[in-house]
Amino acid sequence: MSADIGILDSGSAKAERSDVGDGQRKDGFEKAGGSVVALNPEARIPHSAGDAVADYLKQHESKSLLRFITCGSVDDGKSTLIGRLLHDTQRLFEDQLAALDADSRRHGTRNGEIDFALLVDGLAAEREQGITIDVAYRYFGTERRKFIVADCPGHEQYTRNMATGASTADLAVVLVDARKGLLTQTRRHSYIVSLLGIRHVVLAVNKMDLVGFDPDVFERIVGEYRELAAKLGIEHVQAVPLSALNGDNLTTRSAATPWYRGPSVLEHLETVDVGRDAADLGLRLPVQWVNRPHQDFRGFAGTISAGRVRPGDEIVALPSGRRSRVQRIVTADGDLAQATAGQAVTLTLADELDISRGDVIAGAAQPAQVADQFAAHLLWMDATPLLPGRSYWLKIGARTVTASVTEIKHKIDVNTQAQLAARRLELNEVAWCNLGLDQPIAFEAYRDNRELGSFVLIDRQTNATVAAGTLDFALRRAENIHWQPVDVDKAARAQAKRQTPRCVWFTGLSGSGKSTIANLVDKQLHALGHHTFILDGDNVRHGLNKDLGFTDADRVENIRRVAEVAKLMTDAGLIVLVSFISPFRAERELARELFGAGEFVEVFVDTPLQEAERRDVKGLYAKARAGKIPNFTGIDSPYEAPESPELHLATLEDDPQALAQRVVDFLRG
Ligand code: ADX
Repeated sequence: MSADIGILDSGSAKAERSDVGDGQRKDGFEKAGGSVVALNPEARIPHSAGDAVADYLKQHESKSLLRFITCGSVDDGKSTLIGRLLHDTQRLFEDQLAALDADSRRHGTRNGEIDFALLVDGLAAEREQGITIDVAYRYFGTERRKFIVADCPGHEQYTRNMATGASTADLAVVLVDARKGLLTQTRRHSYIVSLLGIRHVVLAVNKMDLVGFDPDVFERIVGEYRELAAKLGIEHVQAVPLSALNGDNLTTRSAATPWYRGPSVLEHLETVDVGRDAADLGLRLPVQWVNRPHQDFRGFAGTISAGRVRPGDEIVALPSGRRSRVQRIVTADGDLAQATAGQAVTLTLADELDISRGDVIAGAAQPAQVADQFAAHLLWMDATPLLPGRSYWLKIGARTVTASVTEIKHKIDVNTQAQLAARRLELNEVAWCNLGLDQPIAFEAYRDNRELGSFVLIDRQTNATVAAGTLDFALRRAENIHWQPVDVDKAARAQAKRQTPRCVWFTGLSGSGKSTIANLVDKQLHALGHHTFILDGDNVRHGLNKDLGFTDADRVENIRRVAEVAKLMTDAGLIVLVSFISPFRAERELARELFGAGEFVEVFVDTPLQEAERRDVKGLYAKARAGKIPNFTGIDSPYEAPESPELHLATLEDDPQALAQRVVDFLRG
């Protein structure tokens, strides 16, 4: 096989934190805590490889591109397989080879021979541990095809890295050690492969030399794997008996396996038809930015994720649903008569439509759907667990919205695919859940369009990417519920009561004095003729929230519900005094966002733990210290003090009457 020059080793794609504010990086990469998540088709080239990759891809434009991932357990020989694949396709520059030679000698792992694994395990830390710990993207080509391979680590805790690599791949090479057969990891990796919509697997049964190239061993493993693949819905499995170390059946067929009639791994990679012709689908252009250099030009720029477009085509802007026609397709190299999936373009339209960043321009004949509630699969990637009801940023295509998991239907044991009940999700866990967004978005089911069907969740306080997910379908209940207009609105109700509706939110430890102060404020406001109501944690927990306890998940739900009730009460024109411990910043922020500017007044009733415990009005601290109340706030459950409350009441400095007066003055000021 003759080879062309141009190996590009991007190295390992390591991470920074995701930046939410200014949105997507131009190269389209999402940064996940520890690894780069390339969920968008346009986002497949790591930044670091930059121009070199662009040059390389340009040279090879006429060839098709196959993106694949390799996965296997630590000792399955994955790095050796990739190293040898790169080497045997002669993609290595001479100097790289020389450096490798020297490295091999220094590490001495293979008696002075080249250690192919060193080609791949590029990081010092990995070398020391002898494992691969992050996703590394590599590029190589043959006369027939060019390839981008994501090397995914095999360790249990790195499920998320594997998902990262799999999210853009069309094929997975799953390595199995012939001596060991299918392992738990094989099942886990294959599950994630299927979850992320990969339909083609090469089952590489490696280390065949160590079982004497025994066809029975091979057949037994293949039979077992086919059963698994059928269960997971992986349609195409090509099994290859392999010795990555010696090169048997890797790039050429081996004389050691005369009983095997199939292709070598490379032959299969070169010829397999993964059948994703995105140009045949309806047009999808997620708008990355609106290009408005001067009054007379307004263009919508982005990379076409599916379909094709020509001037004159009728389009629909989503989610607005407004229609127009394409006027021009503008690029840096002049106007085009047509553009297809994968091309970066700027469209101008015949009409002035209000389209902004994050909207999707779709073909009018086959538009994408629009919804704000979904059934979705979620892979949790953060050490802090997912709590239903907590709100996160959801980033899909070029759009960022606020979202929360409204229900975990079940979590999935990635090793056995068993469905388990769950109230929260821990690091590396996968679940099927319902999602609610604060506004409708254009989307497609992940199986139809990876870009418009995949999303990440971002923690609003730390900006860390905490989950990757795939949309399965829109919940129909959302389609069928509309806002009912009412004639007597909030303003009319407020006017009738001659007051400005407010939500006054008292937060603080148990026994801090919240209820005492809220009660005094209520009495005074009432005496002044105001219309008020108190929502108190202990009281609401006797009725509406009777079903909730004091786990983190239950507290999130407790606050979500009471915030919604408070919102309804302000809609009724009332001044609502909410007195809940509400220990988490995230939920107090969620509550704040339900209200208009100035309507939400956060009051921090600041009593040090020691003092609350000394007073111990209800005797609960004594019980908690005696181990009789688990998850007690301040003892074994956290309290996150407000950072910038509207009012800070230090109860050690003033008496309740004076503190209540400050609240009343603030409200009437
Ligand atoms: S919150 O954390 O979910 O906001 P909430 O204000 O509704 O709490 O209820 C707090 C009240 O429940 C406390 O004032 C106390 O009387 C009682 N309580 C019982 N168990 C606990 C607990 N484990 N932690 C805190 N408060 C508890």
